[in-house]
Amino acid sequence: MDKERFLKKVCIVTGGAGEIGISTAIRLAQEGADIALVDLKGMEKAIERIKKTGVRCIGYTCNVTNYSEVEKTVAAIRADFSHIDMLFNNAGIQGEFSQIHTYPVEDFHKVIEVNLIGAFHVLRAVSAVMVEQKFGVIVNTASMAGVGGPVNMAAYGASKFALVGLTQTASKDLALYNIRVNSISPGYMGPGYMWDRQVDLQALAGSQYYDKDRNVVAKQMVSEVPLRRYGSIDEIPGTVAYLMSDDASFITGVNIKISGGI
Ligand SMILES: NC(=O)c1ccc[n+]([C@@H]2O[C@H](COP(=O)([O-])OP(=O)(O)OC[C@H]3O[C@@H](n4cnc5c(N)ncnc54)[C@H](O)[C@@H]3O)[C@@H](O)[C@H]2O)c1
Repeated sequence: MDKERFLKKVCIVTGGAGEIGISTAIRLAQEGADIALVDLKGMEKAIERIKKTGVRCIGYTCNVTNYSEVEKTVAAIRADFSHIDMLFNNAGIQGEFSQIHTYPVEDFHKVIEVNLIGAFHVLRAVSAVMVEQKFGVIVNTASMAGVGGPVNMAAYGASKFALVGLTQTASKDLALYNIRVNSISPGYMGPGYMWDRQVDLQALAGSQYYDKDRNVVAKQMVSEVPLRRYGSIDEIPGTVAYLMSDDASFITGVNIKISGGI
């Protein structure tokens, strides 16, 4: 780890109170970046941990589905930090688990609203600042669900496929402004909230693919992974830091799978 790699740089982290958001924000802070955390609520502990690294960190309460809130938040971040070097566009929800013919319609709308439209809102507002600055780096959090269509996860899969597409378009639109845009696609990551929830709900959803016993489902899911284990949340931040850094200066429009070989 290079303690000065992101010195004097400012990074916005959305979903900053969540597991991947916190661990990535801490990693970027350990490498010198000041952090603007964005989430619906619950950022106090994360801010405390990030500040212990010695960088500046401010939390902003914002619902990414509301564009005017996003615009105001980005303006406030710019006023507080004066510039925005990096965006980790990471807020997201998993949605319900159900086969397509029974998938709850309202939930489909909600997941698309947060994971796709929310991510677009943040991308739009932050990239407008970066275009003015003529520099910036963006990493969107997609998922392996955006690479292969996962069973019982119609909304989540569709939202993440779309986010991988949005990443490609944004990378082309923004290239001449010296802005790189990539995405990461974590696979089965655990232990933790999303892993437990996914195992439980795949067992409950009932399909020809998974058992009804959650312990068997956990084993079935791990057996799909060539490395024969789920990943740890701690295996994500290093990849994000790499994509944010000058080591990746010629990498844009790429989706990196962090998935144990799936
Ligand atoms: N954990 C995994 O296994 C996994 C795998 C692949 C992709 N992902 C993706 O990683 C990202 C982070 O997930 P995580 O595992 O840290 O989950 P998490 O639930 O711990 O964190 C997600 C955060 O996003 C925030 N959020 C949700 N809706 C929001 C909204 N409308 N406005 C602002 N913030 C909002 C939540 O409050 C939460 O703090 C998500 O996009 C998720 O889809 C996670």
